[in-house]
Amino acid sequence: MTKIVIIGSDGMLGSAFVKVLSQRKQEIIALTIKDIDITQLQSVNHLKDYEFDIIINCAAFTAVDQAETDQSMAYSVNSLGVKNLAIFASENNKKLVHFSTDYVFAGDKKLYIESDSTGPISIYGKSKLEGEQEIQRILDINQYLILRTAWLYGPNGKNFVKTMLNLAQTRNEINVVGDQYGAPTYSFDLVAWTLALVDMGSCGIYHAVNSGSSSWCLFAKRIFQMQKQKVQVNCISTEEYPTPASRPKYSILCNKKLEKVLSYKIRKWEEALSEYLISINI
Ligand SMILES: NC(=O)c1ccc[n+]([C@@H]2O[C@H](COP(=O)([O-])OP(=O)(O)OC[C@H]3O[C@@H](n4cnc5c(N)ncnc54)[C@H](OP(=O)(O)O)[C@@H]3O)[C@@H](O)[C@H]2O)c1
Repeated sequence: MTKIVIIGSDGMLGSAFVKVLSQRKQEIIALTIKDIDITQLQSVNHLKDYEFDIIINCAAFTAVDQAETDQSMAYSVNSLGVKNLAIFASENNKKLVHFSTDYVFAGDKKLYIESDSTGPISIYGKSKLEGEQEIQRILDINQYLILRTAWLYGPNGKNFVKTMLNLAQTRNEINVVGDQYGAPTYSFDLVAWTLALVDMGSCGIYHAVNSGSSSWCLFAKRIFQMQKQKVQVNCISTEEYPTPASRPKYSILCNKKLEKVLSYKIRKWEEALSEYLISINI
């Protein structure tokens, strides 16, 4: 059986991998920043102490607004750190699985396919794109798998769903941006698609999001409807909610390539959201 190392194993996505792989009784090595700091090549080289075939990198600097002021940190983790992992994978003949983002796109197109031109408009997006490019520069295509995902939520980590549920504890009216569109994606669905691709030996770049699209405002409305919580959600414009980082207006990733390889329809984001909310209500 393939042995997998999870880097960034205590983040939102990393912990979902650990949970699923442990349930499958698959041998895994779960490493946090305390074990391996990807920004230090010397630290990454400690991976030699373990026996495995595949690195799944869930480590990243994901604070989109903070990245604007903490630029060196964002590039250090999302670009240099990923470069270090690619160098290690190249020198030690390991496969590297990595996650990128819809924010590598500018947001001027309604639906993005894998081969579309990138054009990030934030430091986070730029640093993530550099990470992708480092992998592509250092590794042969059959040695890497990059999944671009978006609007991720799930247990163990800060995310939009949790933010909305927390706000609803103290407020009965919330203003949410209604003119940015993306595809909300459940961390456990992303784990399932990734492991299926890994099992099939897939490589290259894939867009990996739940089907359909939403604005943040509609996403919030659905959360409260499903939770049967009476919260008034007002859709506001991006201009009315200024943030340090610019975000793409439209960053809906087309998941047709993923569906074709998996040979099944990827479920709608509302269905996945409902499953997540049921799981946290139990
Ligand atoms: N969340 C989203 O909405 C979203 C959307 C699109 C794409 N993605 C991508 O999906 C992937 C997973 O995101 P996520 O939401 O699970 O992120 P997350 O919850 O922020 O987890 C990131 C993990 O990386 C760790 N880390 C940070 N710097 C590190 C370093 N130098 N060395 C080793 N580990 C380090 C963090 O540890 P500490 O907490 O201790 O710093 C944390 O455990 C990322 O590649 C992200 O860019 C996420």
